[in-house]
Amino acid sequence: MTQRVAIICGGRSSEHEISCISAGGVLAAIDRTQFEPVLIGISKSGKWVLIPEGHPLSIVDGVLPTVPDNAPAVIADVAGFSSAGKPLAIDLVFPLLHGPYGEDGSIQGLLEIADIAYVGSGVLASAVAMDKSFAKPIFASHGIAITAGLVVKESDWKSKKSEITKEITALGYPVFVKPARGGSSRGTTKVASASQLDAAMNEAHTFDSKAMVESAIVGSEIECAVLEIDGTPQASIVGKIHIDPKFDFYNFEAKYLDGATSIELPAPIDPKIAESIRTAAVKAFKALGCSGLARVDFFLTTDNKIIINELNTMPGFTATSVFPKMWAATGISYKEVITHLLRTAEKRSNGVLGN
Ligand SMILES: Nc1ncnc2c1ncn2[C@@H]1O[C@H](COP(=O)(O)OP(=O)(O)O)[C@@H](O)[C@H]1O
Ligand SMILES: [Mg+2]
Repeated sequence: MTQRVAIICGGRSSEHEISCISAGGVLAAIDRTQFEPVLIGISKSGKWVLIPEGHPLSIVDGVLPTVPDNAPAVIADVAGFSSAGKPLAIDLVFPLLHGPYGEDGSIQGLLEIADIAYVGSGVLASAVAMDKSFAKPIFASHGIAITAGLVVKESDWKSKKSEITKEITALGYPVFVKPARGGSSRGTTKVASASQLDAAMNEAHTFDSKAMVESAIVGSEIECAVLEIDGTPQASIVGKIHIDPKFDFYNFEAKYLDGATSIELPAPIDPKIAESIRTAAVKAFKALGCSGLARVDFFLTTDNKIIINELNTMPGFTATSVFPKMWAATGISYKEVITHLLRTAEKRSNGVLGN
């Protein structure tokens, strides 16, 4: 018997469109001999709707897909999901949402209350991974190296600017200023001197009242995908991000402009170092109590130090996103990854009393 899987996409975060493209990919690849997909969208204004069959979920003539406001409404409450007064009889949920309200534990909490199994990390791991200022000390306490830095709240920046500037200057320039709960590099600036701090801080604080300031790491960016298979988190081969040198770092334009970046698989690094990164990725996954999947991003310094940058609990999931690509290169197809995720979700080890 097939299980009914609600794929939830869109959402109120700035990554709405990417989430729709991810949902289109999963819809096309999901194994229909085992699963029957039901597509639920959250519009940018926060309306929950049933996305009609055939609604575009890819880029058409340069237009990015979005969730329509005017489709049949879906009610999500403690009793589960319903539409037009009828229950949708959902067995499993794949919350393909990125950023706040999706990747941060909010929707996971709703699904816990509604007693529905879902793909990915639970409430705590999702929330901790979303906030870099909480995730980093946990990584450090598990022996994974992090970047030196400090947290700067908007109110503190306004009232103690010169004191904080001194602390930042002690770190040494350049530094990176970024929102603690950001994504897609939005609000992130590389700062070369104290005179640029105010503008960078204002930019980060437009996205989050809490900013992070970190020493700039010189080296390459290496990513590793973790997938839970039969209860055991496994690491993919690692990939190296190549960024068009016209970009100063892996910023928003570099991430989303066609052809501006690519991932080299496997990363052209010493196999021993690659192995250490894979071990660190699984360690980071366990340190935060993650479930299902995560993409763990590292810096590899020019003198071969491995430093964790961040862990994403719901990474980009289109067929050509880094996470599925890393698994394809490791020998597990997009379709198989989706099946593993749904089978893991069924076990409910991500629940309130799970991981
Ligand atoms: N401490 C740092 N040193 C060097 N580069 C950094 C640092 N912090 C951020 N960056 C650059 O900015 C990008 C985005 O920062 P990141 O912390 O990964 O935020 P996001 O969640 O938006 O991806 C990174 O991929 C990297 O290119
Ligand atoms: Mg990142």
